[in-house]
Amino acid sequence: MKIAGRIVLVTGASSGIGRDAAIDLARRGATVAICARRRDRLEETLAACRQHAPASRAYPCDVRHREQIRQTVAAARADLGPIDILLNNAGAGAYHLFTQAPEEQFEELMRTNYFSALYFTREVLPSMIERGSGAVVFVSSLAGRIATWRHTAYSASKFAVTGLAEALYYEVKGHGVHVAVIQPGAIRTELFDKGPGFEHLRHVVEPQLVGTEVVTRAVARAIEKERFEVFAPARYALVWKLRALFPRLVMRGTLSFVARKFERRRRPPTPG
Ligand SMILES: NC(=O)c1ccc[n+]([C@@H]2O[C@H](COP(=O)([O-])OP(=O)(O)OC[C@H]3O[C@@H](n4cnc5c(N)ncnc54)[C@H](OP(=O)(O)O)[C@@H]3O)[C@@H](O)[C@H]2O)c1
Repeated sequence: MKIAGRIVLVTGASSGIGRDAAIDLARRGATVAICARRRDRLEETLAACRQHAPASRAYPCDVRHREQIRQTVAAARADLGPIDILLNNAGAGAYHLFTQAPEEQFEELMRTNYFSALYFTREVLPSMIERGSGAVVFVSSLAGRIATWRHTAYSASKFAVTGLAEALYYEVKGHGVHVAVIQPGAIRTELFDKGPGFEHLRHVVEPQLVGTEVVTRAVARAIEKERFEVFAPARYALVWKLRALFPRLVMRGTLSFVARKFERRRRPPTPG
């Protein structure tokens, strides 16, 4: 599917991946509708998008609220016309140990990471199916394919996103609508600094951080080449394949990695 000339709705565009993806899509010729809660940051993104796509618009929205999602999509549609491409990107992280996590955190991450993507998709999909054309792209995570330490709430929400995307792909492909899922690894954004508990992971994650351009390229590729799943950086596809082919081996390796790098225990128990 071509990006130029399309109307693209990007959620969570006030910073990080969403901001840079919105600007990149505008640069590629799309008109973008962007949303997030922080109005000042959203305006900054909008100004950058308008340099390439002057008709682009911003809609302050808290994606945890169903009614605000309905209103955002209705306003974007009224201002710009039917949405051709939806980029479900808004998200948040939390990195507690399961037994220490505040219980409401699990629901909070499901609302922000999973239900927002579900509801935005339900708002735009009927019109895409009717027109026989469109794309819905979910920004999930490598943690939405492979879970790890201190990721119970986050991984569960991202596994839900990946599962939704994969099941939906089969339902709408025949109607001319492409569904894609992006699986970013560790990307340099504000996500981790805002996520409680990240201080326990920082020393391992920080050396692996890469720029948002690997994800914005993955988004464009997923749309233009109609790829279902794109890992960003691409090397994480290999990690996922190894995990699928040799689960016992990879889980043992991960346990020992966790023990060495995080818990400083010497002999981890054997899984299974
Ligand atoms: N950074 C990584 O390493 C990484 C790895 C894998 C996946 N991801 C995923 O990539 C996506 C983007 O994250 P990022 O890394 O770019 O982090 P970020 O810079 O913190 O961006 C998160 C975006 O989501 C928006 N958002 C969060 N809660 C919201 C709410 N309730 N209502 C509306 N918007 C909300 C934020 O806007 P406001 O705060 O202004 O509302 C912001 O624009 C997320 O889905 C994240 O899970 C990131």
